[in-house]
Parts: sequence; structure tokens; C-alpha cells
Amino acid sequence: MAVHRPIKVVAVTGGKGGVGKTNLSVNLSIALAELRRRVVLMDADLGLANVDVLLGLQSRYTLADVINGSKSIKDVLVRGPAGMHIVPASSGVQQMANLTNQEHAALIYAFGEIANQLDVLMIDTAAGISDTVVSFVSAAQEVIVVVCDEPSSITDAYALIKLLNVEHGVFRFRVVANMTRSTQEGINLFNKLNSACDRFLDASLQYLGHVPFDENMRKAVQKRQSLMEFSPRSKSANAIRVLAQKIDQWPVQNSAKGHLEFFFERLISPAQVSGLHS
Ligand SMILES: Nc1ncnc2c1ncn2[C@@H]1O[C@H](COP(=O)(O)OP(=O)(O)OP(=O)(O)O)[C@@H](O)[C@H]1O
Ligand SMILES: [Mg+2]
Repeated sequence: MAVHRPIKVVAVTGGKGGVGKTNLSVNLSIALAELRRRVVLMDADLGLANVDVLLGLQSRYTLADVINGSKSIKDVLVRGPAGMHIVPASSGVQQMANLTNQEHAALIYAFGEIANQLDVLMIDTAAGISDTVVSFVSAAQEVIVVVCDEPSSITDAYALIKLLNVEHGVFRFRVVANMTRSTQEGINLFNKLNSACDRFLDASLQYLGHVPFDENMRKAVQKRQSLMEFSPRSKSANAIRVLAQKIDQWPVQNSAKGHLEFFFERLISPAQVSGLHS
């Protein structure tokens, strides 16, 4: 039986729009690629893609071509900074904003084709608590919840965590505070979210860290470059590198959780496979 190299699957989400999910997932992917991991970033904001736009890349094909059966995941991969790869989504394609759960499952299954080509799958999700967000997040191994110091960020993050926890059995969440003005601000945001989850949910929250507010982030976006390329020595780039190092240290899950997951075939043991066939 072939020994598979484990794959880490990390979803970046947050509930609220505009908290920095896309910028964080793009730059974390680059930082992990700089650590010599083979990284693929999936743009799971299926109706309003912006990972490729953010990086100034031209995508010939997108996940819409995978859904309609004309292309495979390998065909749509685009090379990005530091050798990471992107699976682009389409923008303004109505059908992609309203996929069925079978179509979500088909997309998750389609990634099996590239299982030998990556160490980390990063998933940038849309804002909100749509079926699309919930499907991809609950099919990942690790969930990063991005929050910032805006009134609805903590309540939106809590609503998302509650849904994932109560309805979909997601237990572990890692929290990143973005656009912080101080180290303490990030800790305070985490404590606020953690105390609500502690009281009402059976979920475990861990603080991954913070990314300071940094004008370089907006300037990089305007230049259609990643922060890691535009301003690699900036305070936000340094903070993202610290987060990437922590992510790199996380143990990789190597058994199936019993529901739909990315790279499911690699997570089931030979005994479970024979059980499936008996
Ligand atoms: N640490 C930061 N400092 C300053 N500006 C930031 C920071 N992080 C993100 N931004 C800015 O916030 C805006 C929103 O970022 P981004 O698009 O990544 O958010 P998002 O959560 O993906 O949004 P959406 O919910 O629309 O997908 C961008 O203009 C970005 O430059
Ligand atoms: Mg986004």
C-alpha cells in the first residue's frame, strides 16, 4: 500500500465581509510556499472571485469549467508568487453563487486529482454563512476565523462558529485578529469571542495571532500585487510569516472524520476501505 504524504487543508473564513480573509489567505499561502511547502489556494468565493484579481493574474479557466465538466482541477491551476498555485473562481456567474450540495461535493471530490502535488490546500471563503461557505469549511481540517475590531465582526464570527459547531460538528477553530492597532487589541477580540463560545457552545477556540493594520496592505492591493511581494519587510508581512510558521507546525490529521472531506481517500485506512466494500 502506497504511503501518502499528508495534506493540510486550511479554510479561512470569518462571517463578516471585508475583514481581510482574501488578503490573509493569499499572503499566508505565499509565506507557506516560502517555507518550501507546495501550496494550492482555492478561491471558494465562487460568485465574486478575487484571488486572481488581487494578484494581477489572468485566469483562462475557472472552477465554473470544473463544475460544467469541461476542465479538471489540474487544467485550471494558475501559478502564483513563490511557486504557489491558485484554483481561480469565476466572477459574476450566477450559477456559481447557487451551487447545490451535490455540486459542492463534486468540487471537493475533484481535488483528489491533485493530491500528489500539494502539501497545503488553503481555502479562501466568501463572507456570510451560505451553504457554499459551510460546505467547504466543514470539509477542511483546520478553520481560521478572521476577526477585526468592528461592531459586527465578533457577532458574525460567533454566528458562523455556532452554525459550524452545532449543525456540522466542527469543533476546533483558530482565530486571527486582523487590522489590529496593538497586540492587546487582538487578545481582547479573541477573549470576547472565546467567552461567548465557552458559555454557549462545545467548541475549542485557539488564538493564532494578529496582523497589524498596515497601509502597505491597501497599497499592495492597488498595485495588484501580494503584500509579500510588494512589501516583504513590512510589519504585516512579518506578522503573516509568524502565523505561517505556526500553521506549518500544526499536526496533520490522518484519519477521516466521517463526513465529506477534501482528500477523503487518503484519510481512510485499509480496514475502513474493506469495510466500505463489505
Ligand atoms: N492588516 C490590514 N491592514 C490594512 N488593511 C487591510 C488589512 N487586511 C486587509 N486590509 C484591507 O481590507 C480590505 C478587505 O480585505 P479582503 O478583501 O482581504 O477582505 P475579505 O474578508 O476577503 O472581504 P470579502 O468578505 O469581501 O471577501 C482590503 O482593501 C485590504 O487591503
Ligand atoms: Mg474575500
